[in-house]
Amino acid sequence: MIRTVASQAYSDQKPGTSGLRKKVTVFQQPNYAENFVQSVFDVIDGKDGATLVIGGDGRFLNREVIQKAIRIAAANGFGRVVVGRGGLLSTPAASNMIRIRGALGGLVLSASHNPGGPTEDFGIKYNIANGGPAPEPVTEALYQRTRTIDRWLTVDADDVDLDTLGEVTVGEMTVEVVDPVADYAALMERLFDFDAIRAAGLTMAFDAMSAVTGPYATEILERRLGFAPGTVRNGEPLEDFGGHHPDPNLVHARALYETMMAADAPDFGAASDGDGDRNLIIGRARFVTPSDSLAMLAANAHLAPGYKAGLKGIARSMPTSAAADRVAETLGVPIFETPTGWKFFGNLLDAGMATICGEESAGTGSDHVREKDGLWAVLLWLNILAVRGESVDAIARDHWATYGRNYYARHDYEGVDSARADALMTELRGSLAGLPGRTVAGLRIATADDFAYNDPTDGSVSRNQGVRILFDGGSRVVFRLSGTGTSGATLRVYLERYEPAGGDLDRETGAMLADIVAAADEIAGITRHTGRSEPDVIT
Ligand code: G6P
Ligand code: ZN
Repeated sequence: MIRTVASQAYSDQKPGTSGLRKKVTVFQQPNYAENFVQSVFDVIDGKDGATLVIGGDGRFLNREVIQKAIRIAAANGFGRVVVGRGGLLSTPAASNMIRIRGALGGLVLSASHNPGGPTEDFGIKYNIANGGPAPEPVTEALYQRTRTIDRWLTVDADDVDLDTLGEVTVGEMTVEVVDPVADYAALMERLFDFDAIRAAGLTMAFDAMSAVTGPYATEILERRLGFAPGTVRNGEPLEDFGGHHPDPNLVHARALYETMMAADAPDFGAASDGDGDRNLIIGRARFVTPSDSLAMLAANAHLAPGYKAGLKGIARSMPTSAAADRVAETLGVPIFETPTGWKFFGNLLDAGMATICGEESAGTGSDHVREKDGLWAVLLWLNILAVRGESVDAIARDHWATYGRNYYARHDYEGVDSARADALMTELRGSLAGLPGRTVAGLRIATADDFAYNDPTDGSVSRNQGVRILFDGGSRVVFRLSGTGTSGATLRVYLERYEPAGGDLDRETGAMLADIVAAADEIAGITRHTGRSEPDVIT
């Protein structure tokens, strides 16, 4: 019954920060998706009779690739595929499903916050048995396999009806179509005090951005927590996300921002991205940066039932602000600084060294799954608001008055010519040794290096993870190239200034960072290299 299909290798299937992401038109080339899926199966052991979870964010090509992947899985000896109804599983729900089903791993089909549709982006990511993204040794082996693959395996079988719950057989494998929301919602009910949230009588607006969190948010926020119908906006997952970027930031979730800044704003506003792992948090008249959100959640997590025993440690990616470090210090728990990419948190979580993790790129999560989790962050915030009985703004001010404030912004230069972006980084790396002691834009450089991470759990080392320049007094600028784009290069410049408790805690972020912006341009020659005088996006 197993059929071998001859194929030719593609040279561009190297997974990036979060799986293989390409234009839909690239994935539509003959054998392209099939090669990648088969390569995953060629490099992992233990497939015989094992369970595989498959689901995606519902973007264009989702259903088609799922049907192919099911047949390839059957031909490769899997015993069972668990797939979300409609082909849907948010990334955190997929992570949970892998864990509770004891699956060997899962295929998560998404390009996260990138736009979707026939001319936009698609992606495939492999997650391992702990529910987290495959670590670098696996993705590297996978990439090597894609370079030489010359066949893939399949079975002849009809498409599975993805819209009907229940079990069917494909080859000798069982395919189980499951409710994508139920198990995830049950997990959230265990972690958070739904009664307290219901009793608090809060109002909120949640923008699902026409992406996968719609069904999850409608079930949890409106049905189980009793928020008014209409609390969830854009709650229907669309193949092209309604033509928008499903990226929960101040640019792409502008309408939500305006709602929250209006006189009649609800108590709480939030949004999530294409695959449901990112979050945006806005209180009435108060935007909370992702770095601050991590710190505030960590400081208050013990107020939620799932975290009442306290935190074992906190982890953040290097470009994320040091706000969480101060919380860790006060709590007397370790803080870990990892490279960008959720996969680096997996080992720390598995080893019980960290409980809460977060990134500046709007990702926050905990050891409940092995992915970041947008709705989890929303629910933890709601639980904290309900228990403290204070507004987001009051909690933020109290936090800064206690720990000081890390003013923070990220400047993105998008669609930069790759050669020019590489030249900028190469020149910058070459200049590092001469930087300490120099004064630029009135700021004295204390240290300058290229971040390398030594994983404390397995001793592995990841180098060249971003250039960081530290100024006297704790201000900082970090430069790195995005690892998630699908065309050209995106230069990210992360700017941070620490203002201690008792200092200027209520100033405008732009004004507080102006000298660091000037120093960043002088140090890296951003305008000289890119020809740009302004970033495309400020978050
Ligand atoms: C994905 C990963 C995140 C990471 C982000 C960075 O969303 O899941 O863990 O922080 O990419 O993307 P970048 O474009 O900065 O490489
Ligand atoms: Zn995402």
